[in-house]
Amino acid sequence: MSRVGTIGMCVVLLGALSCTPRRTLSEPRPAVVSGPTEPEVLRSGAWSMTLPLGLQADSAYIPDDNPMTDAKIALGKALYFDRRLSEDATIACASCHRPHHGFADPHAVSEGVDQQLGGRNSPTVINRLFSAEQFWDGRAEDLERQAHGPITNPVEMAMPNHEAAIARLRAVRGYGPLFLDAFGDQTIDLDRVGKAIATYERTVLAGDSPFDRYQAGDRDALSPSAIRGLALFNGKANCVTCHAGFNFTDESYHNIGVGMDAPTPDLGRFAETNNAFDRGAFKTPTLRNVAQTAPFMHDGSEPTLASVVELYNRGGVPNADLSEEIVPLDLSVSAQRDLVAFLEALTGTVTNIAAPTSLPQ
Ligand code: HEC
Ligand code: HEC
Repeated sequence: MSRVGTIGMCVVLLGALSCTPRRTLSEPRPAVVSGPTEPEVLRSGAWSMTLPLGLQADSAYIPDDNPMTDAKIALGKALYFDRRLSEDATIACASCHRPHHGFADPHAVSEGVDQQLGGRNSPTVINRLFSAEQFWDGRAEDLERQAHGPITNPVEMAMPNHEAAIARLRAVRGYGPLFLDAFGDQTIDLDRVGKAIATYERTVLAGDSPFDRYQAGDRDALSPSAIRGLALFNGKANCVTCHAGFNFTDESYHNIGVGMDAPTPDLGRFAETNNAFDRGAFKTPTLRNVAQTAPFMHDGSEPTLASVVELYNRGGVPNADLSEEIVPLDLSVSAQRDLVAFLEALTGTVTNIAAPTSLPQ
């Protein structure tokens, strides 16, 4: 579902064809960020939910073989908060994607079992409903498959293998009835675990922010500074080129230079695709509720929204593969403050945030 086309130049170098494609957006770019001005209803089979204001129901991605049901949401929520899915029963999904930190992690990189550190910042789980591909480099094709990874990742939940994780769940008598309600029988397997967790994650949504209320006609919802920031976002600061549409992302991958000055930089999507134009490219993250999820970027290297805006104002981090859309912006200090005020106005209440009152025993 990539929305990116490439126009490239190819040359014959030492007998081999060498291409240096240029990344361009193939679809017409929306001139401004915009979204629905009335709450929309999301439907999946007989199940439905009124989305927070500003979120677009027809952009939801729900695989045909995993329709939403209340029973599956409840099971997935229990699994998401259950530390028993980790080797020493200390780490749950919720340890690194914390509900009260915008479903992200206050540390630059997260601590897994035995205080082991990973290499990347934990992205938010908010509004994953609107993406198929997951991870900073898009290597998981959907939320269902993404959920399998952390369970056996040695620096995350560190289970020796998935069979051990499933055996752990089968030993909890209370899970059988929840799988029965969600899937029609008590069988517990990895496929069902992934489906249930993904279904819960799809209900973790943020909208109805001051920005959404402003769009819907409440002219007092944004401060004058945030209104100026909105104009910059859509105009001189060029943010909307990548942070496009109602969820503030083009669902694509770009090199803005973060970490590219390191001795051995994380090359991001390149490791996944081996395409030269993906060197140092990472997924454009949503900006909804971004004020809650510091620190920022795939390596957690930017501590504040003000420092993120300064980075863009400098023109990112220079490197051979820097996106052509990243150029010095020449914004005044007060214009930078306005942009931050706008980013802060993207914070809305988060649905389904409360931890389960008890876990199956
Ligand atoms: C030890 C910390 C840690 C734990 C535990 C953990 N995650 Fe993550 N999660 C991360 C990091 C770090 C990334 C980014 C990795 C990357 O992109 O390469 C990530 C990425 C994700 C993403 C992709 C989001 C996006 O925008 O692409 C989802 C969804 C997610 N995790 C859900 C889960 C679920 C579900 C669990 C439990 C089964 C879980 N995580 C357990 C740290 C953790
Ligand atoms: C060329 C596409 C592009 C443009 C233009 C762009 N961004 Fe980004 N943005 C990204 C990508 C890609 C990332 C993640 C980069 C990384 O982690 O290496 C990102 C990350 C961010 C983050 C951090 C979010 C998080 O959860 O860590 C913020 C905040 C942000 N951008 C705001 C802005 C603002 C404000 C502007 C305009 C001044 C802007 N962006 C322009 C692509 C872009």
